Amino acid sequence: MDHRMIVQLDKISKSYPEGSDNKRREIFNDLSLSIQTGQSVSVVGPSGCGKSTLLNIIGTLDSPDSGEVEVCGSNISNLNDKGLSALRADKIGFVFQSHHLLPQISVIENVILPNLASSSPLEQSECSNTAIQLLESVGMSDHAHKMPSEISGGEMQRVAVVRSMINSPELLLADEPTGALDRERSEELIALLLHLCDEHNTGLILVTHDVKTASRMERNLAFEGTSIVEV
Ligand SMILES: Nc1ncnc2c1ncn2[C@@H]1O[C@H](COP(=O)(O)OP(=O)(O)OP(=O)(O)O)[C@@H](O)[C@H]1O
Ligand SMILES: [Mg+2]
Repeated sequence: MDHRMIVQLDKISKSYPEGSDNKRREIFNDLSLSIQTGQSVSVVGPSGCGKSTLLNIIGTLDSPDSGEVEVCGSNISNLNDKGLSALRADKIGFVFQSHHLLPQISVIENVILPNLASSSPLEQSECSNTAIQLLESVGMSDHAHKMPSEISGGEMQRVAVVRSMINSPELLLADEPTGALDRERSEELIALLLHLCDEHNTGLILVTHDVKTASRMERNLAFEGTSIVEV
């Protein structure tokens, strides 16, 4: 196991049943990929090519049909469900296209929530301070005690980004996080993501349809059929 690598995929294959016969649609075939600690990586490709499937496999929410997956120093085939949950809660942050904030609790409570799932949660006042600092870093500390329904979509997305950072993850997986934002807001959000990841030495894998956004990452990957190429 190479500890400079945050992600190591070794010859993974994945297919889904397609249509009524026993046909299967191949998403990856013998895909190998290594990502270094702290690296920022974009993933582009046409709709349906497998970008979210790749992120879900790296995020241990899905598993390949064959091949090895190592994430944050663990080979996921050695982990049971409890081990996988702990790996996700402690070391991996997720940001999705839509923010998934819980509407019943305030902005700051949303940011704190993933810390409750952590194996080593912060002490309460430290957790609140960290949450406030994170909200401050995205210009949202004045909104900390509002409900999600009282802030705009772009603001919710900024909250979702800092929520993903509350447990100081080693790896952040972002699946089209700017999908619902205008150009200016999405550039701001990407700058924020890069800044936070840089500050915490967090690896970032960002799925995007936008070439300009992709080009802001250190490394650019593109789907080509069932493999992935460096562009
Ligand atoms: N659980 C599933 N069962 C069957 N097929 C699936 C499943 N999940 C994904 N697929 C298929 O796998 C392919 C890849 O899906 P995926 O969501 O990874 O694409 P994507 O690149 O993220 O697309 P988009 O840009 O539209 O989000 C698609 O053809 C999809 O229909
Ligand atoms: Mg997708």
